[in-house]
Amino acid sequence: VNEPADQKAAILVEALPYIRRFWGKRVVVKYGGNALFQAPGFDGAEPPEGNGGSRRAPGPSEAGALASFASDVVLMRSVGMLPVVVHGGGPQIGEMMVRLGKVPEFRDGMRVTDAETLEIARMVLVGKVNREIVSAVNVHGALAVGLSGEDANLLTATRRAGDLGFVGDVEVVDPSIVERLLAQGLIPVIATVAADSTGQAYNINADSVAGVLAAALGAEKLVFLTDTEGLRADPDDAESLLRTVTADELDKMVLSGTANAGMVPKVEACARAVRAGVTRAHILDGRVPHALLLEIFTHEGVGTMVSLETTEEVGQ
Ligand SMILES: Nc1ncnc2c1ncn2[C@@H]1O[C@H](COP(=O)(O)OP(=O)(O)OP(=O)(O)O)[C@@H](O)[C@H]1O
Ligand SMILES: [Mg+2]
Repeated sequence: VNEPADQKAAILVEALPYIRRFWGKRVVVKYGGNALFQAPGFDGAEPPEGNGGSRRAPGPSEAGALASFASDVVLMRSVGMLPVVVHGGGPQIGEMMVRLGKVPEFRDGMRVTDAETLEIARMVLVGKVNREIVSAVNVHGALAVGLSGEDANLLTATRRAGDLGFVGDVEVVDPSIVERLLAQGLIPVIATVAADSTGQAYNINADSVAGVLAAALGAEKLVFLTDTEGLRADPDDAESLLRTVTADELDKMVLSGTANAGMVPKVEACARAVRAGVTRAHILDGRVPHALLLEIFTHEGVGTMVSLETTEEVGQ
């Protein structure tokens, strides 16, 4: 803000080739439940006991983080990109369960979802988190429209094998409702609840939905905003950020366990998307204010960039 005018001008000029390149292109942005509402500069502490597995520290600056994300998305749209937002909300589901006196249960890092948990998850994702994102975007104008996988059969789910309850996988994606919203200049904001062919609803991992949707939409980019600086070569070493990685390398990281827990569906979605023709996928720190803008509109790029083949380029 205090830069001299020539530096400000240089920053705007730097953005020009990116604005031109991405004009009219679709970009799927997955906003993680942990990054969501999190205060910039959050220290990343482990979750306090009994708050449903949330690592975030709730507080007034949550609104600031969401507002910053919303303005990034609106800026993207305003310079001609077509953003599609997919959001998570695991911590928010956990918090509501605790408030309602239910104890969240996890098996192999996956939430066990009985009928009551599904009801809570659907309420929180569709009725709360989705609404908050839509309203933060629409402060800037009549832009965002919230929907879930159930709307216009955007997603058809199938029950995941095992005893996790109402946890589903995407069986069919019909992106036509998203296409129609984009054609109207709107920004779709998607909660990842979807029904099977009988109408039974399931909670679906938002990372997987983002990957499938990016492929189905022929997106130019898929961006994950999460709560680490990117993908690490060693999950416990903050200094081991990988700047670039290929789809084949991602497969190996899942097999070796170098990418584990919540990173697995992200990494799988990135690999799948670039193999399906999405030019680049990115895993960024959603806690950094305007990480999305820095990635898209500057030469440096931030976080981890995923491409199909090895490349020397950074910040594409
Ligand atoms: N190799 C790795 N590099 C970085 N993070 C890793 C790695 N392996 C596992 N992780 C874990 O993955 C987590 C990110 O996934 P997580 O599911 O917690 O967040 P999210 O998907 O952004 O939020 P939500 O699931 O609510 O949408 C990181 O906080 C980290 O603990
Ligand atoms: Mg996750």
